[in-house]
Amino acid sequence: SEIYLQGLSGVVPPFTTDPAGLAASARELLGPGPYWYVAGAAGSGATDRANRAAFDDWRIVPRMLTDATTRHLGVTVLGTEMPAPVLLAPIGVQSILHPDGELATARAAAELGVPFVLSTAASHTIEEVAEAAGDGARWFQLYWPDDPDVCVSLLSRARAAGYGVLVVTLDAWTLAWRPHDLDRAYLPFLRGVGTAIPFSDPAFRAGLDRAPEDDLPVAISRWVRLFTGTDRSWDRLDFLREHWDGPIVLKGIQHVDDARKAVDAGVSGIVVSNHGGRQVDGAVASLDVLPDIADAVGDHVEVLFDSGVRTGADVVKALALGAKAVLIGRPFAYGLAHDGQVGVRHVLRGLLADFDLTLGLSGHRSPAELSRDALRRAGAGG
Ligand code: FNR
Repeated sequence: SEIYLQGLSGVVPPFTTDPAGLAASARELLGPGPYWYVAGAAGSGATDRANRAAFDDWRIVPRMLTDATTRHLGVTVLGTEMPAPVLLAPIGVQSILHPDGELATARAAAELGVPFVLSTAASHTIEEVAEAAGDGARWFQLYWPDDPDVCVSLLSRARAAGYGVLVVTLDAWTLAWRPHDLDRAYLPFLRGVGTAIPFSDPAFRAGLDRAPEDDLPVAISRWVRLFTGTDRSWDRLDFLREHWDGPIVLKGIQHVDDARKAVDAGVSGIVVSNHGGRQVDGAVASLDVLPDIADAVGDHVEVLFDSGVRTGADVVKALALGAKAVLIGRPFAYGLAHDGQVGVRHVLRGLLADFDLTLGLSGHRSPAELSRDALRRAGAGG
């Protein structure tokens, strides 16, 4: 209604609320290198497309006369209260998209009370982003470095700076074959990465003869060596538990057996995610594995979801298929590219309003009322 009211005075939104239009205008603003850093996917892009197509395979079946005028969107996940079941996914090196990078994102998220997840590859320090977030809820995403001192240093700094939940990304222990980035020799990323979190970390710097500012190529090589190329096994999770006393969430789960292993490992949550189609080309759509995983783990862990969420209807579908909350990736990055903090807020507000309306108009008063009964497979008369 705010948009319609402003329309009476001839004021229209600062940029489009349509997901495809948002990506298209970000492309014009950013130019090809930074744009493809965000939009790119692994290999042929098959998984990225599958993520979207999977949402189209489900249709919402609206219910009438359910007294849905007043709705309560809030949920609590792992002790974090949120105004709606939506978080901002970790996205590295956001300074590629806007000079304020993660500071702008954290401020926009805090304004709306939406939690954000700070990437290990963020372009501002853990402490700077915490300060920008103020009282806003924040989680920390770990790319697990191959040096225990660096790992412990990052975890203790994140804990001290008020990050409540640790999200350990499992599916990107080395970078996939990403043609758009490879064609540009990762230049946008490498140009932005000089300020990324590891470079400011005392334990990371202690392993260098010269400060990263004085010899960036050597620092980047150490960074690449520590943060890529090392896969691990389930028994190594104990190390993280020893050094993180809050909830731990594993991001990148796609197989039911891995979800069960996560339960056995005693973690608090999982993110059913395929990294937005950026890792295994040809992998199954993230939404397609969600229902079986949700069934398999029941209430033993919190199930979060990402990869392909673009609209309020997508949020409704993911929740109905078993997610407690969803993470949004590329759309907020495009908002950041458009107008920093204001842009992220604009995208988020649009998504939350869309979710609110779709939830209510389909006959639900809260996320908890959503179940598979709310959906039907397209093609089955849909
Ligand atoms: C990511 N993602 C990601 N994930 C992570 O755990 N750490 C990171 O640093 C990054 N960096 C990153 C950069 C960019 C440009 C993108 C697009 C994605 C993955 C991200 O957290 C999330 O899983 C996906 O973005 C979700 O898919 P959608 O919403 O982008 O389709």
